[in-house]
Amino acid sequence: MSENAEYFGDPHRVALARRSADLWELLKDNPRFSYYGRPVGLCDPRDDAATILAAMARVQGAGVSQFFPTTEADGLFAELQGEGLTTDRHEQFLGGQEALRASQALLARRPLPSDLEIVAIDANTSRDLVARVAELCQSCDVSPVPGAAMRGVTRPGVCLAALDRKGEPVATGASFMSHHPASPRAAHAFWGMLATRSDRRGEGIALLLGAMAIDHMWRNHGARAFITGVRAGNASSRALCEKLAVLPTQWIYAWCMDPRSFGEQPVTK
Ligand SMILES: CC(C)(COP(=O)(O)OP(=O)(O)OC[C@H]1O[C@@H](n2cnc3c(N)ncnc32)[C@H](O)[C@@H]1OP(=O)(O)O)[C@@H](O)C(=O)NCCC(=O)NCCS
Repeated sequence: MSENAEYFGDPHRVALARRSADLWELLKDNPRFSYYGRPVGLCDPRDDAATILAAMARVQGAGVSQFFPTTEADGLFAELQGEGLTTDRHEQFLGGQEALRASQALLARRPLPSDLEIVAIDANTSRDLVARVAELCQSCDVSPVPGAAMRGVTRPGVCLAALDRKGEPVATGASFMSHHPASPRAAHAFWGMLATRSDRRGEGIALLLGAMAIDHMWRNHGARAFITGVRAGNASSRALCEKLAVLPTQWIYAWCMDPRSFGEQPVTK
């Protein structure tokens, strides 16, 4: 792997991202798994979900299952915590054709603030701008994907940044194809990584970036569904998703972490 690879965050986060990239090399031919730069995920949980999540957490540092039934979350988490692992959850939201309609309608009626320009990060984008977009994400408590993923090299997709007149990124949003072509979820794209600098919130910027990403992925990459994780209680994120018809489901993103990978002691019962 190139020493020039662009990873972000503290050393534990960088190590996690490197392990995820390596694990994906091993698992990318298996349709049960998905990847777009964050930890490799299980995308069709079955009876073995706890076993797989625990293994992913120990190997990678963190494991996640998308499409995990909300009603089974407590049992799963109890089992994983019994193994000395920690758990977390995001509610899974999903949008389809209605999300495309809502996005296109919004783009037709709502202009971008006049001081901003939108750029799509690609292979030619400067390392400096990619790093500043990652910093923006971190300042909003959003995990940035590695540079190769932002640039659309890791998976087909798009990462957009709204730049002000000084060329500073004030908001970002992304969407990437993340599943194996043989997966029943092959046309589901990850959508999100939305972050707006605190002094530019409420101007409709994230809504526009989110809508542009949906429109782009539908037209250019065959995306027909958009999934994202929203933390319960994140009212602004939830409202934004709902405006674009990306709606709550009966699934969660079920997370499992090995505390030792983050320099912490294992959890004891
Ligand atoms: C979520 C976030 C990206 C929204 O960015 P933003 O540019 O301020 O969002 P917008 O101005 O485009 O708002 C979009 C819609 O969300 C809703 N909204 C925005 N802020 C809100 C708030 N504080 N409470 C309730 N609804 C809110 C509104 O319905 C708004 O639509 P409207 O302008 O038509 O009323 C921003 O708050 C942020 O960076 N938060 C921290 C990171 C985060 O939580 N990201 C999402 C991860 S899933």
